[in-house]
Amino acid sequence: MKKFQSVKDIDNVHAWVDKALEIKRNPLLNNELGKNKTLGLLFYNPSLRTRLSSQKAAYNLGMNVIVMNLSQEAWQLELEDGTVMDLSTQEHIKEAAAVISQYCDIVGLRTFPSLTNKDDDYNDKVFQKFLDYLSVPLISLESAILHPLQSFADAITIKEQQKTAKPKVVLSWAPHPRALPQAVANSFSEWMLAAQYDLVITHPEGMDMNPKYTQGASIETNQKKAFEGADFVYAKNWSSYQDYGKVLHGHEDWMISPELLALTNQAKFMHCLPIRRNVVASDAVLDGPHSIVIEQANNRTYAMQTVLKEILL
Ligand code: CP
Repeated sequence: MKKFQSVKDIDNVHAWVDKALEIKRNPLLNNELGKNKTLGLLFYNPSLRTRLSSQKAAYNLGMNVIVMNLSQEAWQLELEDGTVMDLSTQEHIKEAAAVISQYCDIVGLRTFPSLTNKDDDYNDKVFQKFLDYLSVPLISLESAILHPLQSFADAITIKEQQKTAKPKVVLSWAPHPRALPQAVANSFSEWMLAAQYDLVITHPEGMDMNPKYTQGASIETNQKKAFEGADFVYAKNWSSYQDYGKVLHGHEDWMISPELLALTNQAKFMHCLPIRRNVVASDAVLDGPHSIVIEQANNRTYAMQTVLKEILL
């Protein structure tokens, strides 16, 4: 396995979820597999869960871990070929990636979208450049367009909690004051469709996601109607795909509340975290009995450990 970037890099979601659940039952079973191997974790953007769960997963496999904050600690990287580097960039991705490949056996990279250049973002330009020039496997820790480790953890969590073989899963847009990436929503949709769950995506008019990631899902702009009979409600804000990066204001009533959840089939509430309380979802939802957000975060370790194990084998 040379890369873990999207659901297309694995053969079967359910088989991979079963592998992860096996690891969760006995996380230290393979604690020699990664001995004398080094995982490099490179972050252009902040992280709590991804950084800590990735380190824990690597330690469970006996690996060494190097972490670097690229945006604050490294030389500013040039991504274009043939550039006269007499402005702000100080090191070319060609040398940087080649050097990182000397120190690391596997690399993880987090890089968010600009939300201003749609083409570069949807070509996943930064991730692709690292992929081009690293000579070791690359794992996405969330890229401009996808967050596969989050979605893998979400799939594990749903498998643990589901009461029917084909649960109704609702991905609901929720309010947020700032422009957020579309990566979690794109990725969640991709993984739920690959798992062949009954996926309904609900968002206000004009907040359609990139159709590349939603084909096969039902789209419903009436949130209350979408919630009827739901087994899982996954809340996430995303900024506009059409009017690229724009924030949609004035839809505060899309915040997930107990009244909205009352329309569901006692749905479990999901969110990738971090979450703004009483903006995206109310305190009552997050502190209530149906919230499984901490279980999702816990499963991030087993998602990463499964990916690392597959690469190390
Ligand atoms: N859900 C998630 O990726 O969390 P972090 O941004 O804290 O890593």
